[in-house]
Amino acid sequence: MLSAVALALACSSVGAAPWTAPAKHSTHRLRQISPTLVLESYHPPTTYKTFGKGLEDTHAARVKRDGIEAAATSFIATQLGLDEAVVNYKSGYAGAGSGVHYGYIHQAHDRIPFINAVANVAFKDDKVVSFGHSFVSTDNIASSTPSIEIDSFISDIEMQLDGTYNDHSSLEYLVKSDGSVVLVHVVQIQNEATHVWYEAMVDAHSGELVSVTDFLAHASYTVLPVTKVVPTEGFETVVDPALTVASPYGWHAWSDNSTEINTTGNNVIAYKGSWDTGTVEQSADGLVFDYTYNLDAEPADGNNTQAAVVNAFYLMNMLHDVSYIYGFTEEAFNFQWSNFDKGGLNGDRINMNVQSDLSTNNAGFTTPPDGQAGNCYMFLWTYTTPLHDGDMENDIALHEGTHGISNRLTGGGTARCLQSNEAGGMGEGWSDAMAEWMHWTNDEVTDFTMGVWVVGNSTGERSHPYSTNATVNPLRYSSIQELDEVHDIGEVWANMLHNVYAALVEEFGWDADFKTHADSDKGNVVFMHLFIDGLALQPCNPTMVDARDAWIQADENRYDGAHACTVWKAFASRGLGVNAADYTDDESVPEECQ
Ligand SMILES: *[C@@H]1O[C@H](CO)[C@@H](O)[C@H](O)[C@H]1NC(C)=O
Ligand SMILES: *[C@@H]1O[C@H](CO)[C@@H](O)[C@H](O)[C@H]1NC(C)=O
Ligand SMILES: *[C@@H]1O[C@H](CO)[C@@H](O)[C@H](O)[C@H]1NC(C)=O
Ligand SMILES: *[C@@H]1O[C@H](CO)[C@@H](O)[C@H](O)[C@H]1NC(C)=O
Ligand SMILES: *[C@@H]1O[C@H](CO)[C@@H](O)[C@H](O)[C@H]1NC(C)=O
Ligand SMILES: [Zn+2]
Repeated sequence: MLSAVALALACSSVGAAPWTAPAKHSTHRLRQISPTLVLESYHPPTTYKTFGKGLEDTHAARVKRDGIEAAATSFIATQLGLDEAVVNYKSGYAGAGSGVHYGYIHQAHDRIPFINAVANVAFKDDKVVSFGHSFVSTDNIASSTPSIEIDSFISDIEMQLDGTYNDHSSLEYLVKSDGSVVLVHVVQIQNEATHVWYEAMVDAHSGELVSVTDFLAHASYTVLPVTKVVPTEGFETVVDPALTVASPYGWHAWSDNSTEINTTGNNVIAYKGSWDTGTVEQSADGLVFDYTYNLDAEPADGNNTQAAVVNAFYLMNMLHDVSYIYGFTEEAFNFQWSNFDKGGLNGDRINMNVQSDLSTNNAGFTTPPDGQAGNCYMFLWTYTTPLHDGDMENDIALHEGTHGISNRLTGGGTARCLQSNEAGGMGEGWSDAMAEWMHWTNDEVTDFTMGVWVVGNSTGERSHPYSTNATVNPLRYSSIQELDEVHDIGEVWANMLHNVYAALVEEFGWDADFKTHADSDKGNVVFMHLFIDGLALQPCNPTMVDARDAWIQADENRYDGAHACTVWKAFASRGLGVNAADYTDDESVPEECQ
């Protein structure tokens, strides 16, 4: 039971607010599952606070002595005036290099965790540096003993969601938008042929399908007229690109004994994707993967498929290794077949489906929780002759792979925390921003356009290039009022991040070794540390305001706030200033930054 105690950290009172129109992006998502089935998923409003240099706290001081679980549990219980029995510790870890300990919590009742009433806390040096929660009142809660079992409804749910139950299930509580709390069987429904992958929440008393988590981050790309554009960057031979710290046995092995010589590795398995024909990894004698892509030929001709498999394998491994050195490690719920006893769950390397024949003009990535493999689907694009293969345009695969990073880091590895419309939109934005960040070769920050080659048009697949020039890209925080679709919302966020990047590089310079060394103090390295740390710090289903606060707090945690004003000014320049709220712009920055 939640009591109305005065909270030391000034939390708002708990309880589910009704759905009002301006707030809908941050708490709701409507999904058209099939022509006849529309489901609303609900995420109670989150209260998120960051504390700069941190507040002295007796619970924070317990981290060293008793560990993050005990510290986070007692902290949340005390803050919210709750018994520790209703505070269910889910996961946590010590962030590499930042001295921050992250803890992720679920509300519980009769020891059964809530799906969408969660909390997260970060401690540093015996202090609390951020705290977010969406805990709710349990005045109207269903009995914790299910009255029906999975067998009794599963075939009906399989039919509704067009997939098959894959034997992953749990019993949890779910808060509905009217404030009631229902007991649900959570069952995973998967269809490998159509790459549908849902968590279905089925009322354990009525059998009704109440909500879903969609593990697929949908990508959709604007149809544009055909103009052939040859990739400007050309192909190169890279030698031994694997980073030892991230991939100790290289990209093709997971122990000293491994003798693999194909695109099956510890981080990624890449193959020509088709569930009809099975998976075909690409092998090579002596690990020399030398296949030339002929841009004048169709994707299936000559050695083009082999070259595509190798490029896709290379890209996803690069993303693994580079994100690893910035903090997306085993403990932080990354994707690996073996975690080498370094924490997190094994058995979840990325399945990279190259030239998948399931669809066209698109790509997709499904992120299930830590311990279950991520799946990337790369399709052919039909606007050009010959067809263009998404595997050969690096920003497409990097965008997709980054969905795995943002979905795993936010909320502690559950893959359930970028599900509101606004958070899902930012998910698209982080993906574009990562693809952009990877491609820089010098300190000059020019406009960046996604998906130019695949669509065969310099406009690319987004409405505007990402730009510091507000004439070239006029998107601002308030633009979201007019936007509904996640990629459209994502463009607003990605353009803000482009401006944050440009400001950091202008003021703090640019380091050429940023893909192999994360210890430089240059602006491009700082950018990725704040990006990754911010994901781990922010609450479940964050708003843009929450995500901005997490970036600022990340800078305080790691750099003592050295870049805070630069970051504030960049966000404020696009309307996400100190007083920005409810999709109304504000350009003000904190007093110390004026
Ligand atoms: C390597 O092979 C040896 C001998 O077969 C075996 O004892 C050992 O467990 C293997 N190591 C790994 C990591 O698989
Ligand atoms: C690739 O290597 C893995 C690991 O040795 C093996 O299981 C798989 O059969 C190989 N694939 C092909 C197509 O040879
Ligand atoms: C395909 O690649 C192999 C191995 O590098 C090479 O021997 C062969 O000539 C290539 N074929 C074409 C059509 O390029
Ligand atoms: C690209 O597409 C846009 C929008 O459809 C169109 O206005 C423009 O003419 C196209 N540009 C080229 C170079 O084909
Ligand atoms: C911004 O872009 C517009 C439109 O392309 C251009 O006319 C203007 O000169 C640019 N401003 C700057 C400062 O580059
Ligand atoms: Zn996407």
